[in-house]
Amino acid sequence: MSKLSWGMIGGGEGSQIGGAHRVAATLDGAFTFAAGALDIDPEKGRDFAVRLGAGQDRAYGDWREMLDGESSRPDRVDLVTVATPNNTHFEITKAFLQAGFNVLCEKPMTTTIAEAEEIVAIARESGRLCAVNYGYSGYPLVRQMQAMVAGGELGRVRLVVAEFAHGFHADAADADNPRVRWRYDPAQAGISSVVADCGSHALHMACFVIGQEVTTLSADFASCIEGRKLEDDALIAFRMNGGTVGRLWTSAVAVGRMHGLTLQVFGEKGGLRWAQEQPNQLIWTPLNEASRILERGSSELLPAAQRASRLAIGHTEGMFGAFGNLYANLAEAIHAQKEGGRPDKQNLSFPTAEEGLHSIAAIHAAVASAKAGGTWVAVER
Ligand code: NAI
Repeated sequence: MSKLSWGMIGGGEGSQIGGAHRVAATLDGAFTFAAGALDIDPEKGRDFAVRLGAGQDRAYGDWREMLDGESSRPDRVDLVTVATPNNTHFEITKAFLQAGFNVLCEKPMTTTIAEAEEIVAIARESGRLCAVNYGYSGYPLVRQMQAMVAGGELGRVRLVVAEFAHGFHADAADADNPRVRWRYDPAQAGISSVVADCGSHALHMACFVIGQEVTTLSADFASCIEGRKLEDDALIAFRMNGGTVGRLWTSAVAVGRMHGLTLQVFGEKGGLRWAQEQPNQLIWTPLNEASRILERGSSELLPAAQRASRLAIGHTEGMFGAFGNLYANLAEAIHAQKEGGRPDKQNLSFPTAEEGLHSIAAIHAAVASAKAGGTWVAVER
């Protein structure tokens, strides 16, 4: 198969997430970095893009220049990743989809529900792929959980408990750091901070693993650091369309917690527990039996987990591989799009614009509930 060419907007030198995309996109050799508008500072962005291997003519100063430049090329990029701050996702994703590009957008996909609906509609009309980087769904053992639930190994899922609680915005003296500040500025982050930034990952993972959507929720938000206009901690109770009860805790002030993404699924026939900081082990407790550790790379895992692994059992795999699985699955879909073949359905596991929309709707419902003192609010569908 020919290599696909890949471009990126945002994710410049020193950004938090840009490096993970660059490793993930090129991990299996499916994509080559060909073009970018990587930085809010045009010169820095151009310079970095050239150092990463883009030609001078494809090292762009901003995303509009990149849109013009790439649109007129016969060898335009096959996929554009949008890894800029939240308030720019909508206009960039929309513009590239409308110009016929496939897009992988960072989360949250947009800041409003109307914008998210527009992206879903444009993606459908354009026939282009629009994926959202809920990249933790790419971990092999998250896919194992999803396959176990889908295969009925847990029976009916009664309860799902998701957490994404870290402690890296807990220092009041650091509140002016530009990397932290935009996350609590409604003009740049939108209506929510930690729920949109972190809680949305945990909620997406809960939905992905148990195959249900959130219907109603009740939220309690707190801004633990004085002066923050958006929440840095939240507790959300939710109900799902398959009858599962859900709990979510997300925080940015949980000092001592690191990344803090965990998922627990409790069904009639057993329970599962997975933590992103120990991503190579999944705890499986069949009802009335002792807990067992399912190891990533083990031959007893289901095919979905085996396909998502690159290393033999005992070696550690992590976030690059998880994001890499989304890129690998997108590459499969893009090859089918370009070459007219049939994609292997088993390899089409990436979060879609519809999932991005559901996520935005849940964030908005949580904000509305928190403002109304925790009243139960329906998630718009
Ligand atoms: P950051 O502040 O560390 O980096 C942002 C980068 O985008 C910088 O290089 C900046 O110069 C560039 N930039 C800003 N505006 C731009 C524009 N208009 N055009 C081109 N470049 C621009 O931010 P971070 O943490 O990397 O977050 C970026 C996005 O990724 C956010 O939407 C965030 O929610 C998401 N994210 C997702 C994660 C995931 O696990 N999926 C993890 C961390 C962040």
